[in-house]
Amino acid sequence: MSAQLIDGKAVAETLITQVREGVDARLAAGKRAPALAVILIGDDPASGVYVRNKKRNCEKAGIRSLAWDLPASTTQDELLAIIDQLNADDSVDGILVQLPLPKHIEPQAVIERIDPKKDVDGFHPYNMGRLAIKMPLLRPCTPRGVMTLLESYGIDPKGKKAVIVGASNIVGRPQALEMLLARATVTVCHSATADLAAEVAAADIVVAAVGKPNFVKGEWIKPGAVVIDVGINRLENGSLCGDVEFDSARERAAFITPVPGGVGPMTIATLLQNTLDSANLHA
Ligand code: GUN
Repeated sequence: MSAQLIDGKAVAETLITQVREGVDARLAAGKRAPALAVILIGDDPASGVYVRNKKRNCEKAGIRSLAWDLPASTTQDELLAIIDQLNADDSVDGILVQLPLPKHIEPQAVIERIDPKKDVDGFHPYNMGRLAIKMPLLRPCTPRGVMTLLESYGIDPKGKKAVIVGASNIVGRPQALEMLLARATVTVCHSATADLAAEVAAADIVVAAVGKPNFVKGEWIKPGAVVIDVGINRLENGSLCGDVEFDSARERAAFITPVPGGVGPMTIATLLQNTLDSANLHA
């Protein structure tokens, strides 16, 4: 058997069109377009690519994007002052600070300074807490995007065994909360997990988010499982690969996301969805 590919690019395009319709509905009701402030500090090339991508997609969705490109020498106090200013600005709906930050800036202090109602990344403890108590407000983009992908392929996690490989604050932990909200039975694996292969082999749905190329072996996958690969790793030859051994996993799975073109496009589309949600929370 060869798994059906989950086309994240196509689902993301549909989602962006839906966001555009939501923006148009606001305009028709006499409201302004949503506005997203994106703060980039320093010149990390990968972050630069992501930020340019975010701006391009904002335009597609009719969202106004405000770019703050700051030098690597920016101090934490300067950054916090900009966040305070954006928090107080009623014409700004979403605030995103691109991670990773330079070493002299404490990311948690920055995340917690953002008004939770403008926290389109969903990383603020308030938003993580809301997700944990089944009352989500703004939800982290990648895990929410994964749930949208599953839904658009008719895959309902309810009653299924979902195994998340990776326990990061950005993906693994909120993904576990999303799966729990969708009534899956959830296992989170991490570097202290005793028998990763056995955990993955029991999964109906596997979400891999460890950031290590080909870390999850195809032979671990239960026949007929759904495989969601969040990893985007660049190999020495310049090509991209995920956290899952794609070819061998595809032979066993029923559905699998490719890298690139799987989860990646969903993260940005979900950011736009969150920005629209955030605007609708404000006014
Ligand atoms: N860096 C890598 N992924 C993300 C993300 O989802 N949000 C932000 N702000 N920075 C990132």
